[in-house]
Amino acid sequence: MPLLQVRDLAVEFVTADGVVRAVDGLSYAVDAGQTLAIVGESGSGKSVSSLAVMGLLQSPPARIPSGSITFAGTDLLTLSRKQHRAFCGEHIGMVFQDALAALNPVYTVGWQLTEALRARHGLTRRDARRRAMELLDLVQVPAARQRAREYPHQFSGGMRQRAMIAMALAMDPEVLIADEPTTALDVTVQAQIMKLLAEIQAERDMALILITHDLGVVASVADTVTVMYAGKAVEQGEVQRIYSRPAHPYTRALLRAIPRLDHKGRQLDVIPGRPPDPLHLPDGCAFHPRCDRAEDVCRAAPPPPLAELPGGGSAACYFAVEVMADGKPAERAES
Ligand SMILES: Nc1ncnc2c1ncn2[C@@H]1O[C@H](COP(=O)(O)OP(=O)(O)OP(=O)(O)O)[C@@H](O)[C@H]1O
Ligand code: SF4
Ligand SMILES: [Mg+2]
Repeated sequence: MPLLQVRDLAVEFVTADGVVRAVDGLSYAVDAGQTLAIVGESGSGKSVSSLAVMGLLQSPPARIPSGSITFAGTDLLTLSRKQHRAFCGEHIGMVFQDALAALNPVYTVGWQLTEALRARHGLTRRDARRRAMELLDLVQVPAARQRAREYPHQFSGGMRQRAMIAMALAMDPEVLIADEPTTALDVTVQAQIMKLLAEIQAERDMALILITHDLGVVASVADTVTVMYAGKAVEQGEVQRIYSRPAHPYTRALLRAIPRLDHKGRQLDVIPGRPPDPLHLPDGCAFHPRCDRAEDVCRAAPPPPLAELPGGGSAACYFAVEVMADGKPAERAES
């Protein structure tokens, strides 16, 4: 049994304009010591599905009409909200997308970390302080002792992300969900934080769920990838196969959009159009207005659900097997 398994999860928001189905039939699994990357553009349901795992969705407007979220045999969705959150406090940690909003502005970083350690592990103030310094060192906050006396707004973006990671690690989670831990940081800092997370994960044999809109960021650290579009998983599989032989045209488009150092000066292929409005999803395949492989059938009827691919993994596209056979995403011709 996987450590954390999400099955057929749906999340809806009841709004004045109608019901938004933000997550629609999502399934994934992650084991101790494994890294799962959840990748997709803005609005694809990455954060909402993770907040559902953590029991942090405000209800109303959110509701979970179906699915299960099982951690080592316990279905978290059968617990009360309070029990669910307490359970996550013991087992599942999250690094939030917006570190500034997630840290308390009126307390120093060191104080917040110390209090979290005291509450979680029942440490004395002195032991908690010492552990807080160790954690700030671990996430490579320089001059930790001095920085611990500063407030979140005095930290740079990269340092705040590190402080958030330290806060999450203070809880000793078995699963860590890192929601866009490197967005808005420059490329060098992004790489440092990814490396750091991978090292900590290996050391603690933790399961790591990395959420990002950039497939390039997770190439070297993920074991498996789930690609989301408009609330659904459209492709899943081992990272090597996804990179070398993507089976869904959306995955292929995301791969083409990765900046490559060896292609300096070449224009990036951006995916045409925008992610769809969840209240007005296109008929048929939700990706069809932006898909370079679309045919009439794609406009007429929803694509098949995720189907197994030869050689492992799965994709939800009429033409997955043909797309996969095309191999690496075609390079844009130089103009
Ligand atoms: N409180 C809410 N009420 C209504 N709709 C919501 C609410 N919260 C999220 N949504 C919708 O749910 C969908 C999924 O949002 P989510 O935050 O999971 O996207 P995301 O993949 O994390 O995007 P990003 O990359 O921008 O963080 C979006 O269409 C969003 O507008
Ligand atoms: S089902 Fe059709 S529109 Fe959808 S991704 Fe596949 S080819 Fe493109
Ligand atoms: Mg998000």
